[in-house]
Amino acid sequence: MTPLRRSLALLGLAVAAFIASLPAAGEDFDFMPKGGRALLAGLLKEGLPPAELGGKRTEAEWRAFADARGKALSERERATLAAYLAVHAPLDAGNPSALPRDGRDLAWWECQSCHSLFSGYLTQSREPQGWRNVFLSPFHRQMKLTDQEKDEFARYSALNMPLKVEQVPPELRY
Ligand code: HEC
Repeated sequence: MTPLRRSLALLGLAVAAFIASLPAAGEDFDFMPKGGRALLAGLLKEGLPPAELGGKRTEAEWRAFADARGKALSERERATLAAYLAVHAPLDAGNPSALPRDGRDLAWWECQSCHSLFSGYLTQSREPQGWRNVFLSPFHRQMKLTDQEKDEFARYSALNMPLKVEQVPPELRY
């Protein structure tokens, strides 16, 4: 290899290493507990028939459904799934990538345009009503979430927040 070629090869390696070190866009909310959409997508992938999500059931019935169908899930994940189904079902789940956004999706995509997630979200403990109240403050009224989305956000957050500081990636602790 000529010196020039070797320099170019080294430069290429350096660029590749730099790109690999950048945070991956989009999927970097994996540190947050999965919401109902993600849990349901997992069950559908494992063979849950989409037709089972097409009916109307009470909240208690969705909880029983989550317990029966989500045996590999934790107690909190089953509660999160049941809450999601109570808000959104009946669902047309033929296309899992078109499922409505869950609480994790909403927190990640709807809250960070104005402030960080850490102090106002990830480290806060609130009942569902406390989370719904977030949408009442003057500076949040302009947010364009549907009532269903607000309900899903509140239920997911009450079940899954707060996180421990160590669970949050260091670069988000501000
Ligand atoms: C349109 C901009 C905007 C968006 C989007 C937004 N916030 Fe805020 N938020 C503010 C402003 C402005 C304040 C007040 C100043 C501050 O504390 O930074 C605030 C304050 C807060 C507070 C402290 C005051 C309170 O109401 O308890 C919490 C908690 C909060 N936001 C949570 C959220 C959550 C959760 C989301 C996503 C569902 C969100 N915010 C999305 C603008 C926004």
